[in-house]
Amino acid sequence: MPEDHFGEHVAARYDDSSTDMFEPASVDPVVDFLADLAGHGAALELGIGTGRIALPLAQRGIRVHGIDLSAAMVARLRAKPGAEQIGVTIGDFATTTVDGRFSVAYLVFNTINNLTTQDEQVACFQNVAAHLEPGGCFVIEVGVPALQRLPPGETVRAFTLTPTHLGFDEYDVVSQGLISHHYSVVDGKLKVFSVPFRYVWPAELDLMARLAGMTLRERWSGWKREPFTSDSTKHVSVWEKPASRSRG
Ligand SMILES: C[S@@+](CC[C@H](N)C(=O)[O-])C[C@H]1O[C@@H](n2cnc3c(N)ncnc32)[C@H](O)[C@@H]1O
Repeated sequence: MPEDHFGEHVAARYDDSSTDMFEPASVDPVVDFLADLAGHGAALELGIGTGRIALPLAQRGIRVHGIDLSAAMVARLRAKPGAEQIGVTIGDFATTTVDGRFSVAYLVFNTINNLTTQDEQVACFQNVAAHLEPGGCFVIEVGVPALQRLPPGETVRAFTLTPTHLGFDEYDVVSQGLISHHYSVVDGKLKVFSVPFRYVWPAELDLMARLAGMTLRERWSGWKREPFTSDSTKHVSVWEKPASRSRG
């Protein structure tokens, strides 16, 4: 089982530290996009966390099941109204299997990067494909690796500098590794923690999808279907599992 980087200390502050991500302006376009793909089927969220997307999606009448490693994050979800409609399995979303077939599976907020090896990311696509019904879709929201901003020979870039939070990304361009180091002042005390990620290119994700028998259907730079261009800093991509062929 991979290491859980969303233990009690992160879970306790998760919703408050990502407030803009919980605003209707951030959540509603995601839910519209996913509800449309789910249709009359069910949705599987990988890394369901505290239910930022799963709860409003379930409120739209979509059956939602989630997988997450962190019991602490899921305990926050469980304490919220409407959580009783959502099933959650504790486990690694690269390998954990759940009952049922889904018309859409989704992995948002850069969470594919929490799988820190290429093998784990490939396994995740294969696991998703095994859970999708024919014609079902896998949706990922993730940043485009910001390597154009890393001067040759340098390995560290600041991603936030505020009076209460300093954050630095440390890159390993050989392994596509990235460690985010956080130095935060919480209740007057310095808290330090670091989380490892693996950054991944859009074309590499397309190949992972192909290995799992899926093909790219759409790629946008945002949930409102904004065009994806060479300037885009993130993408929302949809891969499709082939619909089963009828026997003629
Ligand atoms: C950035 S949070 C996103 C939570 C939620 N999807 C959201 O949009 O607010 C990432 C979540 O993925 C979970 N996670 C990370 N790696 C995981 C893995 N390998 N298997 C299952 N859950 C994982 C973490 O525990 C955490 O709850």
